[in-house]
Amino acid sequence: MEYKYAANDNYEDFSSGRVIYHMGGAATFPVRLALEIYERCLQYSKKKKDILLYDCCCGGAYMLTVLGLLKGDTISDIYGSDVDQKSLKLAEDNLSLLSYDGLRRRRQELEELYKKFGKNSHLEALESVDRLEKRISTKINTQVFYRNAFEEDKLPFIPDIIITDVPYGNMVEWSKGSGDINQMVESLSKVCGSETILCISMDKKQKIQTELFKRLEKQMIGKRKFEIYIKKE
Ligand SMILES: C[S@@+](CC[C@H](N)C(=O)[O-])C[C@H]1O[C@@H](n2cnc3c(N)ncnc32)[C@H](O)[C@@H]1O
Repeated sequence: MEYKYAANDNYEDFSSGRVIYHMGGAATFPVRLALEIYERCLQYSKKKKDILLYDCCCGGAYMLTVLGLLKGDTISDIYGSDVDQKSLKLAEDNLSLLSYDGLRRRRQELEELYKKFGKNSHLEALESVDRLEKRISTKINTQVFYRNAFEEDKLPFIPDIIITDVPYGNMVEWSKGSGDINQMVESLSKVCGSETILCISMDKKQKIQTELFKRLEKQMIGKRKFEIYIKKE
């Protein structure tokens, strides 16, 4: 896949565990790819700003946090849900970094760590905090909640863009559901409006077969592929 929108920049300020919190075993997502996917979804979306972004398998919300920091000028709300309580706590901590208060707290933690251990990595992280702070322009409302992605209940909001990186391989398994990606797509059809743009990132072996959505794009990248959909009329 050729990158159309996300430049081949240095994204180290967004590395997991630097400023953005990391939990051992938690999945992360390549920053440049997250940005490229979001930009592609935004191109398909009729709405170009005040985007309500949702991830139904958000894990520690690494991808959502990166997008909030990189594209916050186009986003008004970020919602994430998952079935893993530890991931939801991490997601809350990470999404707090999209506010001045959250970054101030993170700065204090890093300063204390630097005082205690004197590691260069903490100094570098503090420099990243300075740069990330300059990216915060508007307030983004954030919320994380427990939800099984196979549930069919409606949500109290209609997302403009859904981007989700579903469980695959031996790193993260499906839990509390059939594990059938097509069942998740069917559940998501209840959550999407007629203009919601849906992007699913998955393992190359996973196959989506749906009558409910029209596929707008399919891209292979490394071990992953992503597909972008809109609901059929
Ligand atoms: C690949 S990880 C997502 C990582 C996330 N994109 C990030 O950037 O932090 C997949 C997530 O799906 C969650 N998951 C597994 N089964 C689920 C289910 N039935 N409903 C919702 N989430 C589920 C896992 O707990 C895991 O956090």
